[in-house]
Amino acid sequence: MRTPFVAGNWKMNKTIEGARGLVRELLPGLMPVAGVEKVLCPPFTSLMTISDLLKGSDIGLGAQDMHWKEAGAYTGEVSPEMVKECCRYVIIGHSERRAYFGETDEHVNLKVKAALAVGLTPIVCVGETLEENESGRTREVVEHQVAQGLAGLTALDVARLVIAYEPVWAIGTGRAATGEVANQVVAAHIRTPLVNLANEEVAGVVRVLYGGSVTGANATEFFSQPEIDGALVGGASLKPVDFIQIVTAAAA
Ligand code: PGA
Repeated sequence: MRTPFVAGNWKMNKTIEGARGLVRELLPGLMPVAGVEKVLCPPFTSLMTISDLLKGSDIGLGAQDMHWKEAGAYTGEVSPEMVKECCRYVIIGHSERRAYFGETDEHVNLKVKAALAVGLTPIVCVGETLEENESGRTREVVEHQVAQGLAGLTALDVARLVIAYEPVWAIGTGRAATGEVANQVVAAHIRTPLVNLANEEVAGVVRVLYGGSVTGANATEFFSQPEIDGALVGGASLKPVDFIQIVTAAAA
């Protein structure tokens, strides 16, 4: 079956010293939890430091973004190979990248391919805005993001992905989706399209996460849903007690 997966997206938080402190608080609680793929995604500046701290643990490291080009004149950007030096994972297409930095489905597609090419596991984010949700366009938006973001991938490529369903209206708002609604979207608008994009077997093995105001208190509501395999956690990943609770809930 699908191994549960929980990733903490620290976003633009924590200096190197702050990141070190947070990892020291997280390690004792996370280490004993077995049967969950655990991933921390700190800012670029802390990746090397955290990579050292996680050595010998079963906790993985991920970047929050990357460029798709191998190298060159792209001021401010970080290449797939650079990320691969210390990470196994990379978040791609987060709604904040899409909303604030003009990231399109085409960019997402280029990044997903580039990540797979260097052996990184992409955590691909999709999700509708409040306005799209309220105008009944969730299906159209999510299916389009999945189809465009994963265009041209082989079935084997698709099998290596982790996908996160993150309704934009639930991110950082304290207004999480219900487990049932998130499960329906994942089943109908992510897993079913994966059958066409790849095949039934692959659609059955890809881990699909929920993200958006996940806390220690509501995590079980999501993890008890049949189509949801874990969480992409923002705010609560900066709170050790909460994040450990979420990871522990995923193992149960
Ligand atoms: P949140 O963020 O948990 O703070 O809502 C989730 C995310 O952006 O991945």
